[in-house]
Amino acid sequence: MKKSIFDHIIHGGDYNPDQWINTPEIWDEDMRLMNLAHVNSATVSIFSWSMLEPQEGVYNFEWLDKLLDKLHENGKEVILATPSGARPTWLAQKYPEVLRVEETGIRNEYGVRHNHCLTSPIYREKVRNINTLLAQRYKDHPAVKMWHISNEYCGECHCDLCQEAFREWLKKEYNNSLDELNYKWWNGFWSHQITDWSQINSPKFRGENHVSAMKLAWNRFVSESHISFFENEIAPLREITPDIPITTNFMKLYDGIDYQKFAKHLDLVSWDNYPAWDRGFNDTEACDTAFVHDAFRTMGGGKPFFMMESTPSLVNWHNVNKLPRPGRQELSSIQAVAHGADSVQYFQWRKSRGGHEKYHGAVVDHCGHENTRVFREVSHLGSVLEKLSNVVGEECNSKVAVIADWENSWAVKHFCGFNNDHRDYFKECIKWYAPFYKKGISVDVISMEDDYSKYDLVIAPFLYMLKDGTIDRIESYVKNGGNFVTTYLFGFVDKDDFCYLGGFPGGKLKDVFGVWCEETDSLPEGMKNSVKYNGKDYDVVKICDLIHAKGSEVQGTYQKDFYKDYPAITKNTYGKGNAYYVAFRNDDNFTDDFCYDLIDKYGIKADTEIKAEDGVTIRKRGDTIFIMNFADTEKTIMLDKEYTNVVDGVSVKGEITLTVCGYIILE
Ligand code: GLA
Ligand code: GLA
Repeated sequence: MKKSIFDHIIHGGDYNPDQWINTPEIWDEDMRLMNLAHVNSATVSIFSWSMLEPQEGVYNFEWLDKLLDKLHENGKEVILATPSGARPTWLAQKYPEVLRVEETGIRNEYGVRHNHCLTSPIYREKVRNINTLLAQRYKDHPAVKMWHISNEYCGECHCDLCQEAFREWLKKEYNNSLDELNYKWWNGFWSHQITDWSQINSPKFRGENHVSAMKLAWNRFVSESHISFFENEIAPLREITPDIPITTNFMKLYDGIDYQKFAKHLDLVSWDNYPAWDRGFNDTEACDTAFVHDAFRTMGGGKPFFMMESTPSLVNWHNVNKLPRPGRQELSSIQAVAHGADSVQYFQWRKSRGGHEKYHGAVVDHCGHENTRVFREVSHLGSVLEKLSNVVGEECNSKVAVIADWENSWAVKHFCGFNNDHRDYFKECIKWYAPFYKKGISVDVISMEDDYSKYDLVIAPFLYMLKDGTIDRIESYVKNGGNFVTTYLFGFVDKDDFCYLGGFPGGKLKDVFGVWCEETDSLPEGMKNSVKYNGKDYDVVKICDLIHAKGSEVQGTYQKDFYKDYPAITKNTYGKGNAYYVAFRNDDNFTDDFCYDLIDKYGIKADTEIKAEDGVTIRKRGDTIFIMNFADTEKTIMLDKEYTNVVDGVSVKGEITLTVCGYIILE
């Protein structure tokens, strides 16, 4: 049973023909080239507002009518964008309130994109209006298959409207009680008691910026403002085009919005994937990227996601934009599909002639023809994707989850103390993801509020802040047979960055883990302790908790300093499950070795039985197996049985060699 919106892999990307409105022959040439490149889809009209509404209330949809018809005649499916990511000049000139006020308190001038207030009633009304017109006009257009809402929602606004909205948000959050807010923000400290809601302003460099609970509240408010802006945008679309699914493109691990919450409002999650392959083609970058793919797949409830953008060659926004080596984009795209993407899309189809992004990679270069390395690579990939219809809609099966929680990332960033230099929250999550990735074990990346019960193993690196209910959820997971691993600074505070009293981690987690943490040490750069585990010494760097075992089994101890012989790794059997506390940070191979032991102990299976050298990763999606070489040398793999190569239909068995950037897809 297919669970996907499309029955084939979408291959296409951002198409900006409005930039070529005066050269209709280029539109025709685009159709010819799209066919050659095995491109089956185009994402259009992302930043077209000033073309659609050149003056207030004066509309011009004719060009878009023609374009959609042309795409349809040529068999291309359209992902139609709403244009709120950038606005016409007239709009900002006439209604200055739509422009964003930065943290300085100064209103921006017109320019760039994403430069709008999230609260402004006028902007919301204008967005709703243009979206209504788009939906009414194209609701029955046969080419239109999905909505692409705005583009890469991001940023924040500090205008008076947003300040007022923040205060209203806080009233709801704190039961309309300033006493409650003052208590949870610990405002007696430094005499910060608030006596009237109007005294509260957004956190600012030159204002209140030391109240971490307030900064957390602001993060939540900004994130919810984006979601409510989005809900306002899509209201007419849901009403007029209820059958057309809705997505918006997320940006990697951008932490300005709680993507885990936002994703619940989408029919399909999509994200823009720009790995820094040009800085080094290696397995580390591949692992980081895999983590992000898995995070977005998990956010969408495990359903396939879209890789809405990627570059077919270079980008223009690094300081130095090196050309990635040939084959890189193809392998990178296959990786996305292997991890659950039902699309490979580019920014952009045709290079702009002018403007800021004219040297950003595109499928069709300024030369305008198909005889380029990049075009050949894209069309080769397109021909491969056409063979992958079997994976469309298929899911990955993960028995391991890593908690990487957006709200915790904020809390971790804001508190002052211990090691202020090295927080690296998402990096720490990736460090605990990597051992499973290397062993070809599928992992889900979840929030602390997701369901743990379907996993054999849940790993929660640096889970410092616990949202309401999390203590109970961890306890019941372990009690019912789950295996839960956590690390240093675990469960220190509640959702308001408010410390638990009575010893860390908070509440009954001390019983679940059989430990309590008395102190935390931070190690300056160059200083190390070590931990002995399974007869080997592992470095302790940057931070470590000094814990006491209360009935838990001590599996590793510190080797130096006044806390020599204190427990550093504990395991507690609680109910039917096990709770592990790894009290220190290691930036080397401890995490790998420790997780490999867990894999053995709990019989966690790799996706396949195929053996591969380091640098090669293996993923299974549905019945399809993807084997990918991310190393910078040739690698060999040993197949466990006979398979069929999905791309050429030939049978394969035994040993196979993968070239650099090589991959093979098997069934
Ligand atoms: C100074 C201040 C105190 C406190 C300490 C912290 O000494 O006077 O209020 O902030 O620093 O080290
Ligand atoms: C983002 C944006 C695109 C484009 C690309 C360039 O992903 O969504 O509009 O600017 O970056 O890499």
